[in-house]
Amino acid sequence: MDNKKIKKLIEQAQEVQQHSHSPYSDFKVGAAVLTESGDIFAGCNVESAAYPLSQCAEASAIGNMVSHGHKRIHSIVVASQNDEFCFPCGGCRQKIAEFAPDDTPVVMVTKSGKTHETTIGELLPNAFRAHDLGK
Ligand code: THU
Repeated sequence: MDNKKIKKLIEQAQEVQQHSHSPYSDFKVGAAVLTESGDIFAGCNVESAAYPLSQCAEASAIGNMVSHGHKRIHSIVVASQNDEFCFPCGGCRQKIAEFAPDDTPVVMVTKSGKTHETTIGELLPNAFRAHDLGK
């Protein structure tokens, strides 16, 4: 992926990560999506005292993107707060695939800036999409 674009996405993911509401897990996550149009939308994880209602950072970023009228993800970055890569959870893989073709880059970045790049197709092979519903 384009180095300048990825740097900007990482910056935004790590910035929004600071706003994470995660008093239960103490695990701050930030995500930033770059749209096909070149816009960036970010979001953090938002937990709830009713644990299952918690929302992942990827879901927040995608909600932000859709709320601004965009539906094509060009690439997505997920920022973790430690030295491990934060791979999107199963549910978020499905949420990403809704707006991203198989070859869409998914980049994980650690606190210290180490990156790992894959694609949504690798993370969620044979994704169930609108096409499967005849849409
Ligand atoms: N989390 C994310 O935000 N994204 C992921 O891909 C994995 C997990 C959040 C959910 C919860 O707030 C915390 O990390 C611990 O699971």
